[in-house]
Amino acid sequence: MKIVHVASELFPYVKTGGLADAVAALATALANADHEVAVFIPGYRIAREHADAVESERILRLKIEMGDEFMSGHVRMFAPRPNLKVYLICRDEFFDRSHPYGNGERDYEDNADRFIFFAKGVVDTLRLTEIQADVVHAHDWQAALVPLLLRMAERRHGQSLAIKTVFTIHNIAFQGLFPARAFQRTNLPEELNNIDGLEYYNQINLMKGGILFADRMTTVSPRYAEEIQTAEFGCGLDGVVQTRTDDIVGLLNGIDDAVWNPSIDPLLPARYSAGDMKGKAVCRSALLKAQGLDPKFKGPVFGMVCRLAEQKGIDLLLANEDFFLKHECRLIVLGTGEQRYEVALKELAARAPDRIAISLKLDESASHLIEAGADFFIMPSLFEPCGLNQMYSQAYGTIPLTSEVGGLVDTVNDADRDALRGTGLTFPATAEGLGEALQRALVLHADAKRYSAVQKRGMEKNFSWTTAAAAYEQLYQDSL
Ligand code: ADP
Ligand code: GLC
Repeated sequence: MKIVHVASELFPYVKTGGLADAVAALATALANADHEVAVFIPGYRIAREHADAVESERILRLKIEMGDEFMSGHVRMFAPRPNLKVYLICRDEFFDRSHPYGNGERDYEDNADRFIFFAKGVVDTLRLTEIQADVVHAHDWQAALVPLLLRMAERRHGQSLAIKTVFTIHNIAFQGLFPARAFQRTNLPEELNNIDGLEYYNQINLMKGGILFADRMTTVSPRYAEEIQTAEFGCGLDGVVQTRTDDIVGLLNGIDDAVWNPSIDPLLPARYSAGDMKGKAVCRSALLKAQGLDPKFKGPVFGMVCRLAEQKGIDLLLANEDFFLKHECRLIVLGTGEQRYEVALKELAARAPDRIAISLKLDESASHLIEAGADFFIMPSLFEPCGLNQMYSQAYGTIPLTSEVGGLVDTVNDADRDALRGTGLTFPATAEGLGEALQRALVLHADAKRYSAVQKRGMEKNFSWTTAAAAYEQLYQDSL
């Protein structure tokens, strides 16, 4: 099949979260399965720098209609591996910036224009290069207009651009909500500016367009597919999702075992596997040392790597600060995000610098070392569409502590309640829930034999993208 992915992030070119990993791993798995795969992303500065470093070509100039004006841009393309092409939709005014979405606390003012331009650039490129996709698969709000714009362009130009379109929700909390005047920039017919179209409480909602107008719609775990149809998790779009209740499916992400695999991971000081765990101890001391903590410490080490956002349950962690101050354990957190959390975590670390280490930066190699070197990985998310770190943790023999929401439910069983399948400790997404799980972690850690059994069971689980990609392949086939 000819499969086109459209997303705002793609590892290793641009990443702020799991979207980048998920799209990259899916595209790679499909390319390895002999499909012809293209991925479109915005030509962010950092992605352009990658393109500059490899062989790439400028394949097209774009002249995009944006309301009553035209904006120019161009398309760069490179092929990182057989069967896989990456296309960058470029316009310096929009994408030559240090961050994809905003600076610090605030989103960029022109995000509506930036991502409408991106979606139109994708559709124009498909048309002008005559790629003729079997499936065009758009991810999250930044790409959500593509299925609709594509059908409009087909009508206008009498040309077929794709047989089927798919839209995947990676996180319904981010919807691409903009003032009503942004509608005019889409050049869509006015009849789509209403409740059955993009309009949403006197604004426009790009994600709503993806949900309503793609041929197929998916999300990233079975549990989340149910949750987003409820008021509690639907973030105001539950009613819209319900209109597709018959065809929404939740396909679990996998992990890319060329990147997240302790037996070959080049970012670790030592490698290991379920059969030979010596390397994990080396990673553990290296982690403690790198964080300025005593490398010989024997008690439990808790790690956490995430965006510092409410979603990730940082408040639940902070509510349990006494646990980390009182018990003989260590806490290592790597993350960036909301300033209130950065400040609170720094303050916490300052109270016990020999026990708690906080790094406020994006650091891919530190994230691998935490996954490898910690004994437990904490993920107290308030909601979690899929979540990748709990899967990385299991693969790295680091027992995850996960709240019982979304994809976490689908990927972790509680070791105290399920002696045969348990690979983690799970809890209701509340401060008390996390507190109780932390206590249980101490008990588990003190029982070396049981700890190691739980750890190995996790390492032997199969989270491979081959399985996940096969599910998407099936979905594409069925839709065709
Ligand atoms: P989300 O996409 O909601 O942020 P996921 O669990 O799906 O959550 O994916 C998060 C990804 O981002 C993981 O690969 C994680 O290691 C990575 N990550 C988050 N924060 C950082 C950071 N500060 N440095 C390096 N990697 C990070
Ligand atoms: C989103 C979600 C996360 C998911 C990722 C990849 O960022 O928050 O749970 O794992 O997308 O699908």
